[in-house]
Amino acid sequence: MSLEINNLTVELCADKQNDKRINVADSLFLNVDEGEVVSIVGESGSGKSFLGLSILRLNPPRISNIASGEIKIKCKSQDKEIDILKLKPDELVGVRGRLISMIFQDPNTSLNPVMKIGEQITEAVLAHKKVSKKSAKDTAIKYLNSMNIDGESRFGSYPYELSGGMRQRVMIAMAMVLEPCFLIADEPTTALDVTTSLQVLKLIKDIKEKSNIGVIFITHDLTVARSISDRTYVFYAGQVMESGSTEDIINNPAHPYTVSLIKSVPSLSADYIPKQRLFTIPGFLTKDDFSKGKCRFYSRCFKRGDECLIDIPLSSFKGGGKSARDVRCVKVKNLQ
Ligand SMILES: Nc1ncnc2c1ncn2[C@@H]1O[C@H](COP(=O)(O)OP(=O)(O)OP(=O)(O)O)[C@@H](O)[C@H]1O
Ligand code: SF4
Ligand SMILES: [Mg+2]
Repeated sequence: MSLEINNLTVELCADKQNDKRINVADSLFLNVDEGEVVSIVGESGSGKSFLGLSILRLNPPRISNIASGEIKIKCKSQDKEIDILKLKPDELVGVRGRLISMIFQDPNTSLNPVMKIGEQITEAVLAHKKVSKKSAKDTAIKYLNSMNIDGESRFGSYPYELSGGMRQRVMIAMAMVLEPCFLIADEPTTALDVTTSLQVLKLIKDIKEKSNIGVIFITHDLTVARSISDRTYVFYAGQVMESGSTEDIINNPAHPYTVSLIKSVPSLSADYIPKQRLFTIPGFLTKDDFSKGKCRFYSRCFKRGDECLIDIPLSSFKGGGKSARDVRCVKVKNLQ
């Protein structure tokens, strides 16, 4: 199944007293093909999780709303297109979990702490499929096993009895148990050690290869994006700053934010001798960065100038590379 987002804008009430709203996703275009893994990379607070939740219309309604746009899903085999934003609440139930699954960012808050993990997965199966309790339990065990967790002996464990990496894999089992056609994985490897993180990345790659599903992989780490995705969208303050093939972006970054992100990745190679302190991007992302009338990266950019004090469009970049590239910066050359 492929996914296409057109001109999506999601508003968030940033200041209730003054009714100040920001666009936490701003006129966003994004597409993911069947069998493709696409990364969304950006730092904390840039709106990555909000975007993932908005695709399933799980953004908190009390403080946010989807102002405009289309989120279309298409099953090639059925040649049928659905706009998620036009679905009625009861129709959405069939999409969530069944067609599109999400691995939520924090397993500690996403798993029910007072329910056994096996029962949580069984419940998901029973909620969506007309099968017996025994069959749902067998499916839960099978999926735990497929995540390298002994399903038989761990079925009755509570989340607190598992390690962080195991809880993360339980979340993946839960996301995959309904055999969705599309997966949104929100930072599934954050807070894991390197070995477990590699294990989780391999599990997601295996699932993608076996089922040819499309995947949106959310991460703040470009090296993780490199290891898993074909294409990457670099995201900052609700906007795409640069998009294209992951290799092109890492080997030849165009946007100052991407350049800064890459410069701030430490190297562990044997011949690397640090001559100066590791680069860090000055300041931090604030709600003001989401304001209109200037480049959203303006307050932290090493190249900023007066010409950046307008809304910057995303333009096609003709600076070489294997695939189409888009960049949002007035100072980058070779834009069309
Ligand atoms: N429930 C909420 N209530 C109010 N503001 C929120 C809520 N959830 C997120 N936000 C705000 O929305 C913006 C985007 O948050 P989001 O969780 O999407 O960021 P993120 O890119 O996923 O960050 P991280 O890498 O830390 O997970 C942030 O400014 C955050 O403060
Ligand atoms: S538009 Fe200006 S402020 Fe924004 S990234 Fe480009 S140079 Fe920096
Ligand atoms: Mg997040």
